[in-house]
Amino acid sequence: MACLSPWQLQKFQQDGFLVLEGFLSAEECVAMQQRIGEIVAEMDVPLHCRTEFSTQEEEQLRAQGSTDYFLSSGDKIRFFFEKGVFDEKGNFLVPPEKSINKIGHVSPHQDASFLYTEPLGRVLGVWIAVEDATLENGCLWFIPGSHTSSPSWPAGGVSRRMVRAPVGSAPGTSFLGSEPARDNSLFVPTPVQRGALVLIHGEVVHKSKQNLSDRSRHAYTFHFMEASGTTWSPENWLQPTAELPFPPLYT
Ligand code: FE2
Repeated sequence: MACLSPWQLQKFQQDGFLVLEGFLSAEECVAMQQRIGEIVAEMDVPLHCRTEFSTQEEEQLRAQGSTDYFLSSGDKIRFFFEKGVFDEKGNFLVPPEKSINKIGHVSPHQDASFLYTEPLGRVLGVWIAVEDATLENGCLWFIPGSHTSSPSWPAGGVSRRMVRAPVGSAPGTSFLGSEPARDNSLFVPTPVQRGALVLIHGEVVHKSKQNLSDRSRHAYTFHFMEASGTTWSPENWLQPTAELPFPPLYT
């Protein structure tokens, strides 16, 4: 099994993210794209579930909180859309195959705000570019070093958390705290070629811009948690279910 080199590990610890180009072969990316295409072709989204994905607080509460489509998405394939995909009646304004969100996030955030653990910093994001991610089609942007306390970010940790509301209440989630204004000039773009894998520290601040190009930018993303000695917050939106508990890797 491939390991990170000492230099790569140091770079990850320093920046809070690490790009590993060439993690998947071109053939593996094509196979993944084909599967994504099949899933989208079979997509059947009930009208009331046409949820647009955003981390903008207000919009997210409005769009996602009113339905359990989002809250129960942890062990299912669910669809979240770019803004401007639907008209006010929920009809597609663009071809459905072009409508799916980048399978990522948009506005600046830390993953730990959504996947909260005690102690913090036990969640690692894995983001695999199935297609080239460029400046034009919505590559990731990071504030290097923002996962640790620094002169520009002295508080460290997370400044807001998304928590579940009591069962049956609407909206289904709310935020504790708020996302501070970020200095846009601190963000560094991270364009990568298809097949690249990006490791994302749970507390590093990152974003991706809206894809306004005519090229899709599919990515496959998931998270690991160091389970030993860690409490997964029962208030997180994502909870393990009886049908699909969080699968352990080593036990
Ligand atoms: Fe993220």
